Amino acid sequence: MSAFHPETADQNDLSGRVAVVTGANSGLGLATARALAARGAHVVMACRNPQKAADAVADVAANAPGGVEAMPLDLASLKSVEAFAAAFRERFAALDLLINNAGVMVPPFGLTADGFELQFGTNHLGHFALTARLSDRLLAAPRARVVNVSSIAHRAGRIDFDTLDTPPTAATYRATAAYGQSKLANLLFSLELQRRFTAAGVAATAAAAHPGWSSTNLQVNMRIAELMNPLFAQSPAQGALPTLYAALMDSAAGGYFGPDGFTGMRGKGVAPASRSARAQDVSAAERLWTHSERLTGVHFDIPARRAPAAA
Ligand SMILES: NC(=O)c1ccc[n+]([C@@H]2O[C@H](COP(=O)([O-])OP(=O)(O)OC[C@H]3O[C@@H](n4cnc5c(N)ncnc54)[C@H](OP(=O)(O)O)[C@@H]3O)[C@@H](O)[C@H]2O)c1
Repeated sequence: MSAFHPETADQNDLSGRVAVVTGANSGLGLATARALAARGAHVVMACRNPQKAADAVADVAANAPGGVEAMPLDLASLKSVEAFAAAFRERFAALDLLINNAGVMVPPFGLTADGFELQFGTNHLGHFALTARLSDRLLAAPRARVVNVSSIAHRAGRIDFDTLDTPPTAATYRATAAYGQSKLANLLFSLELQRRFTAAGVAATAAAAHPGWSSTNLQVNMRIAELMNPLFAQSPAQGALPTLYAALMDSAAGGYFGPDGFTGMRGKGVAPASRSARAQDVSAAERLWTHSERLTGVHFDIPARRAPAAA
């Protein structure tokens, strides 16, 4: 694959398209929002903190010919996800790009408003419910793309199906394992979403990306990584390239992309990223979907495309 320059993306002119970016006020989400807005998309920055969101909108608005706005979204609350989707549906008939980017990494023990372990609840379940609640708007777009932002850390992840219903306690919480599980869930969700889009014969597609190691606020709970950021991490703009590739290249459907450099930690270009065997397990992907529907209480059906009526 030759080096990817977003200027040469297949979908380089996003005029008239609508994009939602979660966690758009910081790091990779902000870099992604800037790039999509500069291409003419109307960008909805889905953020939990109103002040940070307002600052980020002001930043992106400097080059946003299609317009940019913030809408409140806390992925750690299913009520907030529902309210965001309702507000979005009021305003927009179709959604062209959904960038499921927001995330937390190895925070101190905590639960979401609905009682899920914070990382699994925010990084996976919140995005699962959001995508489900926006699915009719995705299907209303000519060829929507959903991008899930995962991590190399998915490789250490396992989905512990036996404990999904009973979140850890402060004593049993293992922060790194929980992050790995949530990032593996991002990839399994992408796999199953693309499979279901294809089975339904719809034009919408799914793809996944990881940013390698990028200097953002994500490392706030990992002091060592934070200290090493200036030495090893790449910029958020560079780290967002795989997400942009997954969003803007026609051939990216069903794929998983990361930086093209050694070990995938950084790179000037974008390359297909390797998934662990667990991230390619189609039966685990289907099982996770069923669990996610049950845990979130959101039924995620993708109706088959109706054949055009005979003349
Ligand atoms: N940076 C890396 O090296 C790296 C590596 C692998 C994968 N990733 C992935 O990249 C994605 C973006 O992370 P980043 O590096 O850009 O980190 P970041 O700068 O900390 O940005 C994370 C964003 O997610 C938002 N967020 C967190 N919890 C949320 C919630 N409950 N509801 C709504 N938004 C929430 C944050 O909002 P606040 O500002 O309000 O906290 C922030 O806008 C994450 O999915 C992460 O797992 C990053």
